[in-house]
Amino acid sequence: MTTLHDEHATPGAEMKAEKMPGHWLLARLGKRVLRPGGLELTHQLLDALNIGETDDVVEFAPGLGITAKMTLARRPRSYTAIERDEDAACIVRSYLSDASHRCVVGNAAATGLPDGCASVVYGEAMLTMQAPHEKERIVREAVRLLRPGGRYGIHEISLMPEDIAQETIDAIGQDLSQVIHHGVRPLTQSEWSRLFKMCGLTVRHAVTAPMHLLEPGRIVRDEGLVRAIRFAWNVLRMPDARRRVFEMRRIFRKYENHMSAILLIGEKQP
Ligand SMILES: C[S@@+](CC[C@H](N)C(=O)[O-])C[C@H]1O[C@@H](n2cnc3c(N)ncnc32)[C@H](O)[C@@H]1O
Repeated sequence: MTTLHDEHATPGAEMKAEKMPGHWLLARLGKRVLRPGGLELTHQLLDALNIGETDDVVEFAPGLGITAKMTLARRPRSYTAIERDEDAACIVRSYLSDASHRCVVGNAAATGLPDGCASVVYGEAMLTMQAPHEKERIVREAVRLLRPGGRYGIHEISLMPEDIAQETIDAIGQDLSQVIHHGVRPLTQSEWSRLFKMCGLTVRHAVTAPMHLLEPGRIVRDEGLVRAIRFAWNVLRMPDARRRVFEMRRIFRKYENHMSAILLIGEKQP
C-alpha cells in the first residue's frame, strides 16, 4: 500500500489498522511527526546539540525522516541513520543526496559502525519503546560511536512526579502498550539521567514539554494546517483507525499529569 502522504510504501502497510503499531498507524493516516514533544522540542534538541559543518552525525530510528531533513539543513560533515524498518529507511533515503549521507537498515543497539565515528548521536521516540536492557544497550552503543566530548541527545516520554507510585507506572505501561500495540516503558527524568550516567555520559541539558502528540493544536503546529486537516479527514473516514486514534488520545489524556516529553543531552566523558 502506498502512504497517504507521499509516493513511498507506508511502514507497516501490510498490517491491518487494528493490529499495527500506533506510530505506523498515525503515519498511514498522514502524520509525519511521531515524537512526544513535537517539532518544538526537536528544534530545541538540534539547537542544544549544536550541529554544525564539522560534525559527523548518527541518527537512531529516523522514522519518516523529518528530523533528518532538519539536520541535513545544518550541513554536517556526514550523516548516518540507523533505522530498523525497511520502508521507513527507503523514505529517509529519498532525502539523502550526498555521498556522505546514508541510511542503513539495522538495530541501534548493534549498528556495526566503527568506534568513535561520530561527534553527535541522537534518537527520538525510540528508547521509550525498548525493554530496560535494550535501552541500556542502545545508550551504550551511542556512547561507543561517540568520540570523547561528543554529544548524545534523546527526545522521549518521561514520567512525573519523581516519586510516582509503582502501581501508576505499571498502569501507564500497560495502558500505553495496549493502545500502541508495542511495549512502552517510560522512565522518570532522574531514571533517564541515571541511565546516561551509568553508560558514561554527563548530563548537560534537560527540558520537558507537554505530551500533546494527538492534541489538535499540536497537530496543526507539527503538520501545518493542510496536512492536519487531511489527517483529521483520514481519521474520520476510517472507522478502525478512528477507534484506535481516539483510544490513544484518551490514554494520553488520562495520564497527562504523569507523562511529559523530555529532551536530554549528555556529553561523553573523556
Ligand atoms: C515512534 S517512531 C519515531 C520515529 C521518529 N524518530 C520520530 O520521532 O518521528 C519509532 C521508530 O523507531 C524505529 N526503531 C525502533 N527500535 C529501533 C531499533 N532498535 N533500531 C533502529 N530503529 C528502531 C522504528 O522503526 C520507528 O521508525
